[in-house]
Amino acid sequence: MPKKETTLITGSFPKTRLRRARSTVWSRDMLAENTLKSSNLIWPVFIREESVSPNFKALPGVKRYLIAELLNELKYATSLGIQMLMLFVVVNPLKRDSKASEAFNEKGLLCKAVNAIKEKFPNLAIITDVALDPYTNHGQDGLIIGSEVDNDLTLEALKKHALIQARAGADIIAPSEMMDGRIGALREILDTHGFQHVQLMSYAAKYASCLYGPFRDALGSKNCLGIADKKTYQMDPANSDEALREVAMDVQEGADSVIIKPGLHYLDIVHQVKETFKLPVISFHVSAEYAMLYYAAKEGCFDFDEALMESMMCFKRAGSNAIITYGAVRVAENLAEKKYEKLGYESAS
Ligand code: PBG
Repeated sequence: MPKKETTLITGSFPKTRLRRARSTVWSRDMLAENTLKSSNLIWPVFIREESVSPNFKALPGVKRYLIAELLNELKYATSLGIQMLMLFVVVNPLKRDSKASEAFNEKGLLCKAVNAIKEKFPNLAIITDVALDPYTNHGQDGLIIGSEVDNDLTLEALKKHALIQARAGADIIAPSEMMDGRIGALREILDTHGFQHVQLMSYAAKYASCLYGPFRDALGSKNCLGIADKKTYQMDPANSDEALREVAMDVQEGADSVIIKPGLHYLDIVHQVKETFKLPVISFHVSAEYAMLYYAAKEGCFDFDEALMESMMCFKRAGSNAIITYGAVRVAENLAEKKYEKLGYESAS
């Protein structure tokens, strides 16, 4: 893309004083270039089977819910204006196998959860994840042939996986496994089965990042993965041109919106993608980015809520239309200026 030439016209001191605009609350509010609303938030939640415990260590304050528990939490979340939910399921580890069989179970936890949520909260958008890592015994997002995650074999599995999600009532399907050609493959299978209305939110630029640690802990895929990594399909953190190519391909294949992940550490990518493509960009404030705020606040570095809200605004300023964050409910509480529960330690300020 050719860069647009802009000439910055500004006066000089003392005729021009930029502090004048910052001197009062009303002036600062009037001139704010970006705003944050609860409708910009996507709340990622973990749903568990009975046999899986609710607590896990790495993501403080985040729980794995039974479906009934989640329905209860949703009353509060929706009352704060949360409109979008992203579901991740935690199945009993005994159900994991090399073929990810549980990913195709129409009576499994994911479909049950979608049905139950849709019944109670018909206006809540449900985003489901297309990837096989909650179901594989090796913890990879795809199917393995020999020692490699095989792209085209995985595509076949993803199609079946996405179709049961659409049938269960998912509004948006978000493929997160970085196989080549998945957006085209999923658009086709959805369209040929009458699901033209289901959106595809593509994890277009997803990096092989260490910042997913707490998520893998929540899912129970950390142990399955062992010392293996996902570098043959997730992107190298050194690259940004490649992110633009990933997005371009996904757009051509029919993506409705694209996710950049991780988010905060990759705001340059968010900005470049927004500037280049002018399409809906969603940022994933990933598990360790969220956990870092908690731990730093706990040690007295800053106030948790201030840091959380500032992070959200940075996402917006960089060009994000929406933000996927484990802090969604907390952010919505802050926006509504509600009293919330203490985090379990003294606040820094
Ligand atoms: C895997 C998946 C991951 C996350 C979402 N989906 C982790 C991974 O790629 O191993 C990470 C989310 C987070 O860290 O919050 N399909």
